Amino acid sequence: TDRPLILGIETSCDETGVGIVHGHTLLADAVASSVEEHARFGGVVPEVASRAHLEAMVPTIERACEDAGVKLHDVDAIAVTSGPGLAGALLVGVAAAKALAVGLGKPLYGVNHLAAHVAVDQLEHGPLPEPCIAMLVSGGHSSLLRVADVTGDVVPLGATIDDAAGEAFDKVARLLGLPFPGGPHIDREARSGSSVAIDFPRGLSSQRDLQRHRFDFSFSGLKTAVARWVEARERAGEPVPVADVAASFQEAVCDVLTRKAVDAAADQGIEDILVGGGVAANSRLRVLVEERASARGIRVRVPRPGLCTDNGAMVAALGAEMVARGRRPSGLDLPADSSMPV
Ligand code: KG4
Ligand code: ZN
Repeated sequence: TDRPLILGIETSCDETGVGIVHGHTLLADAVASSVEEHARFGGVVPEVASRAHLEAMVPTIERACEDAGVKLHDVDAIAVTSGPGLAGALLVGVAAAKALAVGLGKPLYGVNHLAAHVAVDQLEHGPLPEPCIAMLVSGGHSSLLRVADVTGDVVPLGATIDDAAGEAFDKVARLLGLPFPGGPHIDREARSGSSVAIDFPRGLSSQRDLQRHRFDFSFSGLKTAVARWVEARERAGEPVPVADVAASFQEAVCDVLTRKAVDAAADQGIEDILVGGGVAANSRLRVLVEERASARGIRVRVPRPGLCTDNGAMVAALGAEMVARGRRPSGLDLPADSSMPV
């Protein structure tokens, strides 16, 4: 069928997500997050995440079915994130999906988490623009991808060589005494600060770096530069202008991300950029990517923030596309592959 009813399960990091879609229509998107359990550690703790997935899995499946007004046996197929992500966390979702597929006698589709971040956009804006450049920026990944077919032809053009963009936001927020996860707090602080107050470094942007790392990112040098700047202030006994540091740091991240995404599209002769991942919620990133892309005749799609962060609907969306495009289901030997390439 070209409007299959798909249940999708996502457990690659700290959100237990169960989504239900009917073709391109979103019916339910239930998410249980263990983010508060990780907050006091300042980052996601894999063991804590796995355990939280186990506890949340069945209630979240039940809630999704209730929200969608469907019974489990009405579902046409089960989709699940099989990688990349935290190994133990992925295993919980994959095991649950296999159990459902066997119990219901329905096909199982293992999907790639990054491709799912791209596919989710069709739930909001309709059929995906293919080919497109996908810029995926979250706490766990920062990649530029060339997507010719979201169900199978996705080529990485570049990625971070150290920290992910969201990780940089979280680390800098911590330096500034802001809560975890720090991205939304930096975003809010930055609104009352100046983005040109401090000239923080743009990673992998020198002529020399561009030769080898044209579409790659690096954020650890930026994080260190912010730490040094803040320490110097504190040593001098001067107050730290949190809003200015936040705005200037955010500008450095967004400047590099948007410049490289637009360059990648222009280089590949592609007219659409799709942004995904938790950092896609950043207000400055949204404005800057639109501004720079439209100046070069490139369109931009960004799903609403709730669909950008990890969720089950994105997995269901990609599962629906796999069914619609006649892809073969996975076997029951589907692995949880923590370092799965796109
Ligand atoms: O996609 P996501 O929910 O989970 C993964 O990491 O896969 O992304 C979470 C990341 C966190 O690092 C968080 O700080 C960041 O997205 N984030 C933001 C904003 N909202 C969330 N970063 C910058 N600005 C935001 N408004
Ligand atoms: Zn993600």
